[in-house]
Amino acid sequence: MSFIKHLKEEFQVIQERDPAIKTPLEVLLYPSFRVMIKYRRAHKLYKKGHYFLARLISQRAARKTGIEIHPGATIGKGLFIDHGSGVIIGETTIIGDNVTLYQGVTLGGTGKETGKRHPTIGDNVMISAGAKIIGSFTVGDNSKIGAGSVVLKEVPPNCTVVGIPGRVVRQQNMKIPRDNMDQCNLPDPVQDDISTLKKENARLENLVEELERELHSCREKRDRELRAREMREQQCCSQKQIVEDQEEEIRR
Ligand SMILES: CC(C)(COP(=O)(O)OP(=O)(O)OC[C@H]1O[C@@H](n2cnc3c(N)ncnc32)[C@H](O)[C@@H]1OP(=O)(O)O)[C@@H](O)C(=O)NCCC(=O)NCCS
Repeated sequence: MSFIKHLKEEFQVIQERDPAIKTPLEVLLYPSFRVMIKYRRAHKLYKKGHYFLARLISQRAARKTGIEIHPGATIGKGLFIDHGSGVIIGETTIIGDNVTLYQGVTLGGTGKETGKRHPTIGDNVMISAGAKIIGSFTVGDNSKIGAGSVVLKEVPPNCTVVGIPGRVVRQQNMKIPRDNMDQCNLPDPVQDDISTLKKENARLENLVEELERELHSCREKRDRELRAREMREQQCCSQKQIVEDQEEEIRR
């Protein structure tokens, strides 16, 4: 596509997608407009193997617009990056046609993959402010990613994904029941461990008390038996003494 065609396309996309724009000239002030022109140049250079020059252009554009697009990324027609600040698009990202990104979006890698490390974004996808799409999976056509979501796995087409980690809450315009989407009462593993330990401690305390009671009753029983035996022995001794005394008296 020629440079003039690109320019026309950028003008059209920004005017269509941003309701805040009042005059066509304002398009020139949009970071999205400036970064996309730089990206197209950098991408051409990248494809020809001029990696340093390509990175130089993209890094300069990043400093001026706050949008860092790696020149290796493949971007279709009609990408609009609203506001722009803090947007990162990784080297192996593939973006389809008519995609909208808001500020703070990251299309990044997990750091664990090699080769294709960044996501593939389908046509007409909207990725809301602050969303992070991390990994080399696909976000299907016409899907929406909610603000602040962290998406870690494949998103089918025509879905809305929200939350951390991102979950599908709407598919083919139908709401999906949410069992696990309570973002206010998040699980607290430390508190859970403390509760388990408290329960275990109480169980052990009861066991020790029971053992102490049993030991006490065993000792009492043994003492009673000892006392009874002593008494029996004393009785035996005194009876023996009486018999001996009687025999002595008879002999006399
Ligand atoms: C996701 C979004 C696009 C709405 O998509 P949608 O398909 O119309 O989805 P809905 O509004 O029907 O929301 C579906 C559910 O997800 C919830 N939800 C929506 N966005 C959410 C978010 N970012 N985080 C958590 N939950 C969210 C809704 O509360 C709703 O929950 P419910 O089923 O319990 O009622 C929108 O909520 C959003 O995040 N917009 C941000 C746009 C943006 O970045 N603007 C910045 C301009 S500067």
